[in-house]
Amino acid sequence: MAQRAVVEIDRARIAELTEREEKKLNETTQGSKRLYERARRSLAGGVPSSYHLRDPWPIYLAEGKGPRVWDVDGNEMIDFHNGFGSMVQGHANPAVIEAVEARLAVGTHFAAPTEDGVVVAEHLVERFRLPKWRYTNSGSESTMDAIRIARGFTGRDTIVKIFGSYHGHHDYVMVSIGVPYDRIGDRENYESLPYGEGIPKVVADLTIAVPFNDAGAMERRIERLVEEGRKPACVIMEAAMMNLGIVLPEPGYLEAVRELTERHGIVLVFDEVKTGLCIAGGGAVERFGVQPDMITLAKSLGAGLPSGAIGATEEIMQVVENERVYQVGTFNGNPASMAAARAGLEQVLTPEAYEHLDALNDRLMAGCEAVVEKYSLPGYAVGVGAKGCVTFSPEKIVDYETFKANQDGELMDLAWLYNMNRGIFMTPGREEEWTLSVTHSFDDCDAFVGVFEEMAHDLTA
Ligand SMILES: Cc1ncc(COP(=O)(O)O)c(C=O)c1O
Repeated sequence: MAQRAVVEIDRARIAELTEREEKKLNETTQGSKRLYERARRSLAGGVPSSYHLRDPWPIYLAEGKGPRVWDVDGNEMIDFHNGFGSMVQGHANPAVIEAVEARLAVGTHFAAPTEDGVVVAEHLVERFRLPKWRYTNSGSESTMDAIRIARGFTGRDTIVKIFGSYHGHHDYVMVSIGVPYDRIGDRENYESLPYGEGIPKVVADLTIAVPFNDAGAMERRIERLVEEGRKPACVIMEAAMMNLGIVLPEPGYLEAVRELTERHGIVLVFDEVKTGLCIAGGGAVERFGVQPDMITLAKSLGAGLPSGAIGATEEIMQVVENERVYQVGTFNGNPASMAAARAGLEQVLTPEAYEHLDALNDRLMAGCEAVVEKYSLPGYAVGVGAKGCVTFSPEKIVDYETFKANQDGELMDLAWLYNMNRGIFMTPGREEEWTLSVTHSFDDCDAFVGVFEEMAHDLTA
């Protein structure tokens, strides 16, 4: 990232605009307010997942079609949230509707395998270059089972993850994310900090975090773990971090991780729950050309229906096939989810679809980058495939430490309010990014850039 002069953003101006925009959003979402008041009497916090929370009330959605969504107040928005990256096929995609409707009419669940599940696995083998697959119902289940399989395969308990990476809500990985920055400890020896209460310390202690984009630090920590008799079963990581905005791997980093995990006999798991079908037909494996031993998928796999998958080498999946490790679940390979996944893979997420997504994202990132330059904002656009964001930071973010030290969270919050008030439905939260769908158009991207420019203008006027 080239160094250039940036304006000093007036903090009082951010606060003033935030107050104005919050007021406006509250005025136009009175239906959500009413639903929230009803919902909180029976749903904890009025929401099905804490990730849906928003102060003073969440925005409740009613409908989605193609690239658009409508909230319960009838506000129409272009969707750049896309279900945290699950809807790369676009809402109510006709191919998916047809496949799921056909399935609904002949039975949705048997807890027995169906042909669609076999066909989906065949596609995943081809796209992700791993020979054996199993299904789950979410990203968390995928990473939980993948870690158990890696532990069963190696006979080891310790695992390594990247500091600041989110891999779902089970105890093994709710460690060393979103934690107080002053408690993370020294970079060579990060603390294993549980994310929230209810996570046993003994479990958190089995999870060791290392910085992203630093293969040397990973190797040194692994060597120390080996000396301590705690050789890790696996390294679980995103090939491009998607929970600090977006942090791309520096040249040579993934190759170095691949080489060192192989040399130490440690299973390398790419968690492709977010990257996966959003960044290329064959995910990070195709995009970055580095082959892990295992892959976890979810989100966009099911085209909006709950599903997940785990891929592995023949050797690793042997422990599942010979039932040394139990990989199970009543709804695994659910026929409706499999019908949706098959339709998505065969009819929607084609090579042409990825060309379209790349072209859209190039347009969106270039537009945002032009605004950043025009108004000398402290930030830059970054993305890959269907995903991207503007990172408000004067420095390039390469890992959790640079993110925490530099990301301007207040500007992120303001940008979200500007979007929501101007017809852009965007992921809430300072760690998120946009996801495009195959149904988005260049005009949709230009609309996003237009709102961004309005904010930049108002901030610097
Ligand atoms: C990289 C990654 N892995 C796993 C998960 C967990 O997926 P789920 O919310 O479907 O359990 C997420 C969710 O955001 C994720 O981003």
